[in-house]
Amino acid sequence: MKAAVFRSYGSPTVLKMEDLEKPMVTEDGVLVRVHASSVNPAEWYAMTGLLVARTQNGLFKPKDSRIGADFSGVVEAVGSKVTHLKPGDEVYGGRSGAFAEYVNVRNAVVRKPANLTFEEAASVPTAAITALQGLRDHGKIKPGDKVLINGAAGGVGTFAIQIAKALGAEVTGVCSTKNVDMVRSLGADHVMDYTKEDFTQIGKRYDLLLDIAGSRSWKEYKRVLTPEANFVIVGAPKGNKVLGPLANVIKLKLASMGASQKISFFIAQFNREDLAILREMIESGKIKPVVEKVYPLAHLVDAMNHLGTGHAWGKIVLKVK
Ligand SMILES: NC(=O)c1ccc[n+]([C@@H]2O[C@H](COP(=O)([O-])OP(=O)(O)OC[C@H]3O[C@@H](n4cnc5c(N)ncnc54)[C@H](OP(=O)(O)O)[C@@H]3O)[C@@H](O)[C@H]2O)c1
Repeated sequence: MKAAVFRSYGSPTVLKMEDLEKPMVTEDGVLVRVHASSVNPAEWYAMTGLLVARTQNGLFKPKDSRIGADFSGVVEAVGSKVTHLKPGDEVYGGRSGAFAEYVNVRNAVVRKPANLTFEEAASVPTAAITALQGLRDHGKIKPGDKVLINGAAGGVGTFAIQIAKALGAEVTGVCSTKNVDMVRSLGADHVMDYTKEDFTQIGKRYDLLLDIAGSRSWKEYKRVLTPEANFVIVGAPKGNKVLGPLANVIKLKLASMGASQKISFFIAQFNREDLAILREMIESGKIKPVVEKVYPLAHLVDAMNHLGTGHAWGKIVLKVK
C-alpha cells in the first residue's frame, strides 16, 4: 500500500510516499481502507524532530517513520473480537500512521457522521476531540459561562467556538481580520480581531479561557480572568528546537503558580466515546467541520507547508482515495 513516511527529521520535503506492507487485521482490530486524512501541528513536530519528540522516536532518525493520525474510510475487515463494526461500515477515528491507504485500528474508530463526506469527516478527530476535552474536561464549561477562545480560526478553534456554543456558553473568539466573518458565522457571540484590538485591555473578564494560540503572557491573560476562572492551555507558537511549544507552556505554568485560577495543560486522547459524542453533535447540526483546502495525499508536502504557516483556517485535509 502507498503510505507517507519520513526517514529523517526536517522540513516537509523529508516526507516521501513509499510502498509499505498492507497491515493485517488483528483479532481486536478494524482494518480500514482510508479515504481521507487531515494534517495537524502534532505531525509537524514529529516531522521536524523536536528534541522532546526525538527522545521517544529516535535521537538521530525516526524509529517509527509512519505519520498521520486522523482518518475516515470504509471497514475492509474486522478481527474476531470486534462486534461494534462490520465490513462496509463508513468510519472515522484516530490511529498513528494514518497518511496511508490502510490502517488497522484497535481503539479509536466508530461509525462516521452520516451527513459528512469522507473529507469532512477526516477533519474532525484530533481537532474536535481537543476542543471537546479542553472545554468539558479541563475547562469545566457550564451553561452561561463567558468563554474566550484565543486562536479561534484554526482547526481546534473552529470546533471550540461551536462546541462552547452548543454547551450553552457566551463565546468570544479571537482571530485575525481575514477570519472575523468566518468565526462569527460559526456562532461566536463576539469576535475580536487581534490585529486591531487587544482583548487583554478591554476590561472584560471570562470564566474560561481556552488558549490555543499561546500568544500572550500570564500577566496579560490574568487581567481577563475571573478569580475562579479555568485557564486551559491547548497550544503555543512553534518555539525552539528543543521544547517547541512546551517552552511556552512551562513559562505560563511557572508564571501562574499561586494564582487563584485553575491552570491546566493537557494532551488530547482519542477514544470511542468522544468520537461518538462528536458524531451526534455533527448529525444533529450543532457543529460542522470547516475545511479550508483538500490536497491529494501525493501533495502532502504542500499540505504540510500550508499548515506550517500557522495561519491556515479551519482544517487542511488529505484525499487518500
Ligand atoms: N494539547 C493538545 O492535545 C493539542 C491538540 C491539537 C492541537 N494542539 C495545539 O493547538 C494549536 C493549534 O492547533 P490547530 O490544529 O488549531 O492549528 P491550526 O489549524 O494551524 O491553527 C492555527 C490558527 O492560529 C491562529 N493564530 C495564529 N496566531 C494567532 C494569534 N496571535 N492570536 C490568535 N490566533 C492566532 C491562526 O489564525 P489567524 O490566521 O486568524 O491568525 C490559525 O487559524 C497548536 O499549537 C497545536 O500544537 C494541541
